[in-house]
Amino acid sequence: MVCKRQAASPLFPPTLEVKRVRVLAVESSCDETALAVYDGERSQLLAHRVHSQTEVHADYGGVVPELAARDHMRRLPVLARQVMADAGMGYGEIDAVAYTAGPGLAGALMTGAAFAKGVSASCGISALAVNHLEGHILAPLLEAEAPAFPFLALLVSGGHSQLIEVRAVGRYRLLGESIDDAIGEAFDKSAKLMGLGYPGGAALSRLAEDGDPVAVPFTRPMVNRPGLDLSFSGLKTAVANEIAAGRDHADVAASFERTVIDTLEIKLRRALDQTGLDRLVVAGGVAANRPLRERLTGMMVERGGSVHFPAIELCTDNAAMIALAGWLRLSAGERDADPGFAVRPRWPLDSLSPPGRAA
Ligand code: KG4
Ligand code: ZN
Repeated sequence: MVCKRQAASPLFPPTLEVKRVRVLAVESSCDETALAVYDGERSQLLAHRVHSQTEVHADYGGVVPELAARDHMRRLPVLARQVMADAGMGYGEIDAVAYTAGPGLAGALMTGAAFAKGVSASCGISALAVNHLEGHILAPLLEAEAPAFPFLALLVSGGHSQLIEVRAVGRYRLLGESIDDAIGEAFDKSAKLMGLGYPGGAALSRLAEDGDPVAVPFTRPMVNRPGLDLSFSGLKTAVANEIAAGRDHADVAASFERTVIDTLEIKLRRALDQTGLDRLVVAGGVAANRPLRERLTGMMVERGGSVHFPAIELCTDNAAMIALAGWLRLSAGERDADPGFAVRPRWPLDSLSPPGRAA
């Protein structure tokens, strides 16, 4: 490794040329190892790579934390070399390193944080802990038609289902969330019941294309109650009952998917009315769902507002979103105050502060 600031001493905190930040980003919060290089000066993603551990966990029907951490250990240095080559640069040309510090699996997070801190210490460059959820909701800012602040964010992933009022970077107000299963989790558990493997969200959606979305009259959870909270464990149980009763899997999948989308649309309309916001961001793995994207696009057209999704490949876990969130904070002078690191398996979005201040 050749570093341009080898002679810098003391190592911490290294100085940062805030205008010309090229960020290397590391994501390892769950079962994807991902790296990216982002050029803040040109507002350009130079390279990103994702290695999915699906095969490692396939036999277990879910993510095994120890196996996840071990696989990250193996992949991180290899993927880092590849992504740097893709970006056409060496470690010496990187100005800062951003890494996911939470929320996520503790051991998995530690491997990425340790790797990032190693790059930081050996190259004498700044490091910054990034919140994975902030990465998800800011990911649409990487697109050509980036949303302006403020906006309403719907974060729908394997671990989270939240409605958030986003006033600016670091100014987040939680409006509602799932009181039990996350939406991605409901997709995955339902898919498992249909024998579609893990994680089965995308496979369930493909199966749903062959089914009748009104074949099974599932109840839309919590829509008759006031408020913006969500609940999906009852729907998952209803899916289990229909499967046990021998219902056609494609019909169950299509009806399940439609019920989830109907429910989200009702809650989103309510949240938009309540907040007066007319821009919607949809992010997280489930934002890759095509019928969801179509329905919410139609809803925002009808309301005269706009909807913003990350590119499909940047909906599920990736490091491009961590690079962008990291850059937005690094360029405001924020950086880790300590060469050591502490991961944060639980790290709520609404505990964050605007850039430049410690979270
Ligand atoms: O954001 P993500 O990669 O990981 C977490 O941070 O949780 O989200 C993964 C989730 C999984 O539950 C997966 O089944 C779901 O996103 N997912 C989908 C689709 N693609 C991924 N769910 C429904 N339809 C899809 N097309
Ligand atoms: Zn995620």
